[in-house]
Amino acid sequence: MNKLSIHQYLPQASRLVYGCMGLGGGWTSSPLTKADVVQANQVIDAVLEANINVFDHADIYQFGKAEQVFGQVLTQRPELREKMIIQSKCGIRFEDSNGPKRYDLSGKWITESTEQILKRLNTDYIDVLILHRPDPLMEPEEVAEVLYALKQSGKVKYFGLSNMHAAQAEYLSLAVEQPFIVNQLELSLTNLGWLEEGIYAGNPDGANVNFTAGTLEYARKNNMQIQSWGSLSQGLFTGKNTSEYPSHIQQTALKISELAEKYSTSLEAIVLSWLLRHPVTMQPVIGSVNQERIKACSHATTVSITREEWYQIYVLARGMELP
Ligand SMILES: NC(=O)c1ccc[n+]([C@@H]2O[C@H](COP(=O)([O-])OP(=O)(O)OC[C@H]3O[C@@H](n4cnc5c(N)ncnc54)[C@H](OP(=O)(O)O)[C@@H]3O)[C@@H](O)[C@H]2O)c1
Repeated sequence: MNKLSIHQYLPQASRLVYGCMGLGGGWTSSPLTKADVVQANQVIDAVLEANINVFDHADIYQFGKAEQVFGQVLTQRPELREKMIIQSKCGIRFEDSNGPKRYDLSGKWITESTEQILKRLNTDYIDVLILHRPDPLMEPEEVAEVLYALKQSGKVKYFGLSNMHAAQAEYLSLAVEQPFIVNQLELSLTNLGWLEEGIYAGNPDGANVNFTAGTLEYARKNNMQIQSWGSLSQGLFTGKNTSEYPSHIQQTALKISELAEKYSTSLEAIVLSWLLRHPVTMQPVIGSVNQERIKACSHATTVSITREEWYQIYVLARGMELP
């Protein structure tokens, strides 16, 4: 298996990333409760016990409450901070009195968001600040200036991207001197464009493939760590009732359970090991708040499926044989 690209910068980073979008009590404006803080403590303990030390946030998760509850845990137990690599994202703004839902990678918004992230998380620095989505109005020089200032101030150690294709990464790198060490993309068994793009090159059947060519190759070439979000496909292959789903989804779920039995491991481990098998060497982000599921996910690092099994899963999940 290739080394994780992120190890060049953060050598302790775990193979899996814990996604904190589910912490904080829900996407409502109601304040955090004691139960939310208890849950966050328990989940963080389960994640660390599963040897996962990278925590993924965004300023918008649960309208800031995911970071806030995490920050309360760090206030109660400051000794946890040094065991963690914390990343957060900025750049998405919900509709407000100033305008509609929009993306904002202006210098002013990146600076303000980072201050708020640090405050909510109750930490002096974050390890990785990720630009959440490409803002059509972003100016590489303006982004460069603010990232430089954040780095100099010690508030952010490294920077990353999310939902950006290779040309956008390259465009920002025209002016931004710091490397973008991460690109977080939706890659899963139910969102297969990242593989379909390659196998359909030059084939009219690939006209509707939804993934920009060269993005994974660019990441590998530039030591940019690919992190896959949505990697558990919301539980579709790990125990959710699939009776209302198309037959290829049901068959994929069946194959996953066959392999889990063969390798004496969890369903989650097989789903994630399928992603881990890809040579781009990705870091799957897992978003469960269920402690048993978190543990089940951690077994993925101990399983290595064969090339043939990898293709069996892929072909079933795409619902038709390869071209
Ligand atoms: N960069 C981006 O734009 C972006 C976008 C979305 C998400 N993310 C990151 O990726 C992380 C994961 O994203 P995600 O939550 O969309 O994807 P996910 O990890 O594929 O799915 C997790 C969700 O699926 C549920 N689930 C898993 N197994 C289940 C089962 N067997 N039965 C029922 N439900 C099951 C979980 O519920 P339980 O909690 O009950 O287990 C949880 O709600 C987020 O936390 C966030 O950090 C990034």
